[in-house]
Amino acid sequence: MNTTDQLDRDHRFIARAVELAKRGLYTTKPNPRVGCVVVQGEEIVGEGWHERAGEPHAEIHALSVAGERAKGSEVFVSLEPCAHAGRTGPCAQALLDAGVSRVMAAMIDPNPQVAGRGIEMLRTEGIAAEISQQDCGAVELNAGFCKRMTSGRPLVRLKVAATMDGRTAANDGSSQWITGEAARAEVHQLRARSCAIVTGIGTVREDDPRLNARVDEDVVQPLRVVLDGNGQVDPSARLFSEPGDVLIVTSREDDEGYGFDARTEKLCLTGEDGRVDVAGVLDMLAERACNEVLVEAGAGVAGAFVSRGLVDEIWVYQSPDMLGSGGRGMFVMRGIRSIGDRVKFELKDVSRIGRDLRLIYSPSKEG
Ligand SMILES: NC(=O)c1ccc[n+]([C@@H]2O[C@H](COP(=O)([O-])OP(=O)(O)OC[C@H]3O[C@@H](n4cnc5c(N)ncnc54)[C@H](OP(=O)(O)O)[C@@H]3O)[C@@H](O)[C@H]2O)c1
Repeated sequence: MNTTDQLDRDHRFIARAVELAKRGLYTTKPNPRVGCVVVQGEEIVGEGWHERAGEPHAEIHALSVAGERAKGSEVFVSLEPCAHAGRTGPCAQALLDAGVSRVMAAMIDPNPQVAGRGIEMLRTEGIAAEISQQDCGAVELNAGFCKRMTSGRPLVRLKVAATMDGRTAANDGSSQWITGEAARAEVHQLRARSCAIVTGIGTVREDDPRLNARVDEDVVQPLRVVLDGNGQVDPSARLFSEPGDVLIVTSREDDEGYGFDARTEKLCLTGEDGRVDVAGVLDMLAERACNEVLVEAGAGVAGAFVSRGLVDEIWVYQSPDMLGSGGRGMFVMRGIRSIGDRVKFELKDVSRIGRDLRLIYSPSKEG
């Protein structure tokens, strides 16, 4: 086989491993999504993916399907096999025990407990182990996990539904629904892949959202976080009637512990301005192993995250309607007086979702 054919073949199997990894999109949190393929010649003899934290890793599932045929096989995995015993045994050791001959991983595991040790462990035992040089979407699939491992902060997506004239609610505060059904269905997928959803007391008061992920697939529900400086949230809000945990973050020290019921925790995180410390909220969520955080709030909280440069992506669902200058804006941002003070973003992607547009922005690298 010449080099190009070899590269194509490797890419095909690695791409399959990444496809399998995507099956855990809504369920592996806080673990990364990982898929694995065991190959003999051109035949796939075993496949698997990591389904839930605490359950076997992708390699273990794939090896078990391959059985005796794992001996002498090539293994393609979307993330470097682990070398440490976490809640399950080290996968690099399981690959050695199964007698595989070659291992290709799509990327190094950024977890400092692994970070190249899995590949090293295999090589030390004489296995041809390497990292694929081709991009097959593995890093993007686990961008939140990678960010948390390397920076100690989760990946932050901010979603906002706005009219063509940039309004997020009408003058009376009503905003349901600005966008169409297709866009709203997609937001449930964004919620489903997130470890936490952050909103503000203004949104809870006006919209009374449930903030859970309503998708057809199996999903580990995200933690719902309400920034509520004065602890004003109404215990009868719909948020509390759905299964799943709720965290209320206040700026009043006398307000810690559990409120309403055992699923509703209260925490105080006060910033320098006396309001809830939004950067501190992200640090706290990273400590709770949150990889991807979705901010779904009104202009107050959305503006607080953007002003402090805490957002990795802004997802704008833009309807072709108008609410006029009496409607509410997208971001409350203080200190912007002239055009020179603008906060710059880059448009990364644009697509049509039903009658709406979806625009994905990331902070401009220009500064
Ligand atoms: N179109 C959309 O995508 C969308 C999404 C959500 C909401 N909305 C609309 O937005 C409107 C509500 O807007 P809103 O701005 O009041 O809602 P919000 O951003 O959800 O909540 C704002 C409140 O959050 C609290 N907060 C806590 N920490 C904060 C901080 N560091 N910075 C700023 N606020 C902080 C403040 O109350 P305390 O001072 O009491 O702490 C503040 O009044 C509603 O009409 C709703 O329909 C639209």
